[in-house]
Amino acid sequence: MQIQDRLKSFVLRKGRITSNQKRAIDTLWDKYILDSNKEVKNIYPDTDPILDIGFGAGETTSFIAKAKPDTFVLGAEVYLSGIGSLLSKANDEQIDNIRILNSDIAPFLEDKVSDNFFEMILMFYPDPWPKRKHHKRRLINNDFINLLNRKIKPKGIFYFKTDWDHYYQEVKKIIAKDKKWSVLEKQDLENYLIDLPQTSFERKALLAKRELNEIILQRIS
Ligand SMILES: C[S@@+](CC[C@H](N)C(=O)[O-])C[C@H]1O[C@@H](n2cnc3c(N)ncnc32)[C@H](O)[C@@H]1O
Repeated sequence: MQIQDRLKSFVLRKGRITSNQKRAIDTLWDKYILDSNKEVKNIYPDTDPILDIGFGAGETTSFIAKAKPDTFVLGAEVYLSGIGSLLSKANDEQIDNIRILNSDIAPFLEDKVSDNFFEMILMFYPDPWPKRKHHKRRLINNDFINLLNRKIKPKGIFYFKTDWDHYYQEVKKIIAKDKKWSVLEKQDLENYLIDLPQTSFERKALLAKRELNEIILQRIS
């Protein structure tokens, strides 16, 4: 199935936007938001780019951009409230190496990102779509894992976290048959990735006493 033909992994709702988020959207849009119709390769051409898929309120995106000022971090998110929060934070903390994609990451990756592009791709707590009839909306499936593999550089990293056991087991099953990745342990990662800030979704999962799991993959070649 073509990436474009798959069911969307999100349902766009008009969420509440605070006045701070709105101000950030009104004033900072042109500085940080990527044109989703353009290819991404010419932004910061000599860095090892990092992609944060579904960044929520952007806690991880901004942390990583500050920890790695010499690279560029692309955050993808469809909800304006989260984008407003990240824009505001990036501006307040003068973080210039962030760019934001306000659209579905799947077709963008397929069409606008050249192969072997990202040094690392993060996907933390993607929407779990817990009901069985909705599992096909989950962002990660076989095709998507293959797409990530192509867009990550050889030896690049895909870092996935979930608080949903069924999703975790499914991803483990997909990669068990996949010879294009090797599995890393957390201590294999650079130091700044060991103690990432807790996100609001992570806090909610912990409050609900859900177990947090992660899978770290390295593209083999
Ligand atoms: C549960 S939140 C996790 C947020 C964040 N990563 C964290 O750890 O707090 C998942 C986010 O992924 C976003 N999302 C879902 N599908 C997406 C897609 N196809 N492209 C970009 N963002 C997407 C949703 O809007 C949502 O904000």
